[in-house]
Amino acid sequence: MISRRSAVKALGTLAVALAVTTAGPALAADPIVIKFSHVVAPGTPKGKGAEKFKELAEKYSNGAVTVEVYPNSQLYKDKEELEALQLGAVQMLAPSLAKFGPLGVRDFEVFDLPYIFPDYDALHKVTYGAVGKELFAKLEDKGITGLAYWDNGFKIMSANSPVKVPDDFLGLKMRIQSSKVLEAEMNALGAVPQVMAFSEVYQALQTGVVDGTENPPSNMYTQKMHEVQSHATLSNHGYLGYAVIVNKKFWDGLPDDVRANLDKAMLEATEYANSIAKEENEAALAAMKEAGRTEFHEMTEDERAAWVKALSPVHDEMAERIGAELIAKVKAETGAM
Ligand code: LMR
Repeated sequence: MISRRSAVKALGTLAVALAVTTAGPALAADPIVIKFSHVVAPGTPKGKGAEKFKELAEKYSNGAVTVEVYPNSQLYKDKEELEALQLGAVQMLAPSLAKFGPLGVRDFEVFDLPYIFPDYDALHKVTYGAVGKELFAKLEDKGITGLAYWDNGFKIMSANSPVKVPDDFLGLKMRIQSSKVLEAEMNALGAVPQVMAFSEVYQALQTGVVDGTENPPSNMYTQKMHEVQSHATLSNHGYLGYAVIVNKKFWDGLPDDVRANLDKAMLEATEYANSIAKEENEAALAAMKEAGRTEFHEMTEDERAAWVKALSPVHDEMAERIGAELIAKVKAETGAM
């Protein structure tokens, strides 16, 4: 038989327990979760940029926001991740600018035109300028908001045979991202372009499903592609970079103060990502040279001239698809050929 005293005590304990369990969630509101999915390794310019954004977003929002970064196509492959963003299954991505065509936005393919950016400075006139903003506006009616452009770098061509001059590409099966400009580029070299998700490239190179590909050194190195490519040419014939994008409904629905903190975090993460991209690519190239698996070829002046001659027609060929006016605007900014 329990005494009145111990019954009162037990009730008191129960009341305290109830107060704790019910008060818990009310005191600490659930954080807003941003799932940030991407397809490259954590040790790349994009991978590091994503981690920097996470760190700053969580710091500036005082815990109101949690950013979960999923690298290496862990959650979604190229095409699926854009669908997942539109459906709201993830909130943030940074796809390569070459991957917006399947979404129905062709304009970003201007970034894929061969030799359109002589260097990072020329590129930044576009990505930090009016043209960059104009391009982001095209995403709005797809339910997407563009926040920033992040650099990777200039691409090198690799294969399992020497690829020094355009004739060397004749009949080679070359993996490309899902861009019509890149398809035209490979066709112009006499190669057979094959669109393939990034996560599948290493195995396709290893098994001979494709002979070669193009990538900035950081991607080639972190995916170990140099272990399955015997030759590469430092062609720097095109640029690969990213648009950091969010689900528009999610972004517009955020409390103003939270969005302001995230804008600040994105601004600083962008400065960081764009300040390390060049060095990261140089370091990756040095590491691949050191590994000694791939023979890296530096172009001669004559070889470069042959590449430029072979690839220049792609600009005119793609003018109808991308828009001659947009191409002209970009060239006016960069002073390209
Ligand atoms: C590729 O598919 O080659 C790249 O777009 C991967 C990336 O995100 O850098």
